[in-house]
Amino acid sequence: MSKNRSLKTEMLFRLVIPLIFFVVVDAVLSYFVTLHYVDQAYDRWLLDSARSLAQEIKVRQGKVVVELPPAALEIFKWDEQDKTYFKIITTEQETLAGDKSVPEPLSPETDWSHPVYFNDLLYGEPVRIVSMLVTLDETPERVFIHVAETLNKRRAMMTDILLADMIPQTILVMLTGVYLLSGLKRGLQPLHTLAKHIAGRSSRDLSPIPESHVFLEVRALTDTINDVLEQLTLAIATQQRFIANAAHQLRTPLAGLKLQAERALREQEVQAMKPALLQIQNCADRMSHLTTQLLVLAQSEPINGSYESRSVDLCELVRKTCIDWVPKALQRNMEIGFECPETELSVAGDEVLLRELLVNLLDNAIAYGYEYGNITVQLDSKPTPCLTISDDGPGIPEPEMGRVFERFYRLPGSPGNGCGLGLSIVKDIAELHHAELKLGRANDKGGLRIELSFTPI
Ligand SMILES: Nc1ncnc2c1ncn2[C@@H]1O[C@H](COP(=O)(O)OP(=O)(O)OP(=O)(O)O)[C@@H](O)[C@H]1O
Ligand SMILES: [Mg+2]
Repeated sequence: MSKNRSLKTEMLFRLVIPLIFFVVVDAVLSYFVTLHYVDQAYDRWLLDSARSLAQEIKVRQGKVVVELPPAALEIFKWDEQDKTYFKIITTEQETLAGDKSVPEPLSPETDWSHPVYFNDLLYGEPVRIVSMLVTLDETPERVFIHVAETLNKRRAMMTDILLADMIPQTILVMLTGVYLLSGLKRGLQPLHTLAKHIAGRSSRDLSPIPESHVFLEVRALTDTINDVLEQLTLAIATQQRFIANAAHQLRTPLAGLKLQAERALREQEVQAMKPALLQIQNCADRMSHLTTQLLVLAQSEPINGSYESRSVDLCELVRKTCIDWVPKALQRNMEIGFECPETELSVAGDEVLLRELLVNLLDNAIAYGYEYGNITVQLDSKPTPCLTISDDGPGIPEPEMGRVFERFYRLPGSPGNGCGLGLSIVKDIAELHHAELKLGRANDKGGLRIELSFTPI
């Protein structure tokens, strides 16, 4: 279907064109059927004329003669529409009566056991001819009668019959087209009404389209639009909540910065300013961390999901990141262990985002694990590429496991300057990579185990 063709045109094309085609086929068939019956009817009359001529053929003193009384000739004149010609001829081509120009059947194999009908031209006019053989008892000589008639009557009858057949059919097709158009116009009216209703709404109005405005057939469309509107409402509400939370999170360290700066300014000695300056540094660190987390989150949101997917060597990425994070772990006297299969392990994804995911999980394990604890990072290739990070810290209590993925949510009493976005980022990046994320206990005593199963390339 062409891009902008309307439903009306499409329906007309699909219904009226086949109808016109059927009418044309019917006209052609009707033509031949009518021709057959018209010929049959008029051929019988033509044969009657030939037979009446045959009665006038006599044998006088052994010679064939034709005695045509004026009454017999009259029968060829009574018809006003057509001209009739005849020829009576012997086997020796002796014309006994009539017009010599009347054509005869050309084929020498003509079967004379019954009358022969054919079409030909006489004086430039098309004619229908009947030829018959007359045998006489008194003489062995054979006589042929040929009667030709112009086609005016036949044509007039053909035209009458065809018109009587075609006119109602053409009117029927036209009426069908008009009826179809008006029906379509009426049928499409609810769609126009719906379009007007939607166009008339304010861009802020995300309420569902009321059902009273729609017909049953349009319901599927409005239901889908209503579903989208509902999802949009939810997404906007979530976004607004997020913006409010982010603003609140940014305001707190900013207020702290201002307060500490004022406190430092009140002091005369540099030494006395130090505690306030340390607080300022702390606030700046928190703000910088929060800003980084917000930016990563914005980048990893599945709704933005336009990352460039490439083949990423997981072993290499995880090994490098673990090495980079060793000094951080050593600050808390923790050890990072890394296990990787011998074979190369690649997944389709974005290397920068996957690194962010790993960094957040390592940060959490270091921040919330016990001092002198162990962190194990494991990569498996079977059955699907799988990354597991476990620590032997306190872990997350089971009822909280669902909540820790919420944005800005932190377990009560969590240490450090975290802003509660790390696991949300992990969840979004996992979703973006179609990877399955599972939280669980690392061992009987507790600990946290996070498992991420990727789909193989
Ligand atoms: N390995 C872990 N062991 C114990 N608790 C954890 C662990 N990882 C996360 N948590 C808990 O889950 C909460 C949410 O973690 P998340 O990483 O989302 O936020 P955050 O670490 O507080 O802040 P951010 O990562 O944005 O700096 C944390 O506050 C912490 O209480
Ligand atoms: Mg974190």
